[in-house]
Amino acid sequence: MQYPRILITGSDGLIGQALQRKLANWPEADVLATGLDASPRLRDGSGGYVPLDVTDHGAVERLFLDFAPTAVVHLAAMSKVEACEQDKEACWRVNVEATANIARLCKYHGARLVFLSTDFLFDGANGPYAEDDYPAPVNAYGRSKQAAENAIRLSGLTQWASVRTSLVFGTGDDLKGLNIATLMVRELKAGASFLAATDQFRSPTYAPDLADGLRRIIQFEKSGLYHLAGRERLSVFDLCRLAAPVFGFDPNLIEPTTTAALHPDAPRPLNGGLLILRAESELGFRPRPPAEAFADLGKRLGLPIAA
Ligand SMILES: NC(=O)c1ccc[n+]([C@@H]2O[C@H](COP(=O)([O-])OP(=O)(O)OC[C@H]3O[C@@H](n4cnc5c(N)ncnc54)[C@H](OP(=O)(O)O)[C@@H]3O)[C@@H](O)[C@H]2O)c1
Repeated sequence: MQYPRILITGSDGLIGQALQRKLANWPEADVLATGLDASPRLRDGSGGYVPLDVTDHGAVERLFLDFAPTAVVHLAAMSKVEACEQDKEACWRVNVEATANIARLCKYHGARLVFLSTDFLFDGANGPYAEDDYPAPVNAYGRSKQAAENAIRLSGLTQWASVRTSLVFGTGDDLKGLNIATLMVRELKAGASFLAATDQFRSPTYAPDLADGLRRIIQFEKSGLYHLAGRERLSVFDLCRLAAPVFGFDPNLIEPTTTAALHPDAPRPLNGGLLILRAESELGFRPRPPAEAFADLGKRLGLPIAA
């Protein structure tokens, strides 16, 4: 049997770090993490690391020749919705053109591609969504991910998986950005209240659970569309109300607002969320319930967890 050689792009982000931790328990896998920084942000990573800007197509090609991956997990992206809206050209270069190039190289070198996509592919008129529901993104970020999925399909590559996920939360080393859980904790710790949207429904996903699903896709050599997300569909407000007491805060510090008030510069799908039946039945994907995920995250954040 050929041992997997797994190349990860965008490995310094929340999901990339969770995936590296998960893959560290797979001794046969040879993992090469890549990101924009000169050195990795994950402190106890067990694989190798080299800097890689995925928009530098020549550098990506050279890495394919040097490392000869059997699988590429492509996470690198412009993932901030407002930034994509403000600079659509940069968003297209990173999210679409770089993905098309990686798909082309995967085909040429016989590697499997696992691409991270989003629930923001859907318009949020009628969620939760299954894999074969029709994408109709409402913002530039969602459109770029749809175009990237299409570019992979059109590349002629046969061994690919596009993984849609939703509102991922967790922690890592020196992460540049905050996520819904760490942002809420920062505000509540500072003694402030926290505004959360009552009208935006998502499938909140704990990063280590998503990483477990990604490992299964690589290991079982699965192709096609997969929704890897939490099992519960919640409004962002309900999610925060559920999380606050587990983290030891008063849930009344979570205050209701609307998505439009919080994010005036880029629309978001409202009635969203993802159905995960396919991943449950084909991969044995079992994301933990939100309260369990918050308790685990709280421990990692060093918070006094409520029993
Ligand atoms: N988090 C979510 O809720 C969520 C939901 C759906 C889909 N996704 C997708 O999942 C993937 C990973 O997301 P994440 O949450 O881990 O986001 P993230 O923390 O923003 O990670 C994305 C990583 O890509 C890197 N990157 C940006 N431009 C790059 C370039 N040109 N070359 C190489 N690396 C580049 C970023 O570097 P810097 O840190 O230096 O900017 C960052 O480390 C993304 O494709 C995202 O669209 C995330």
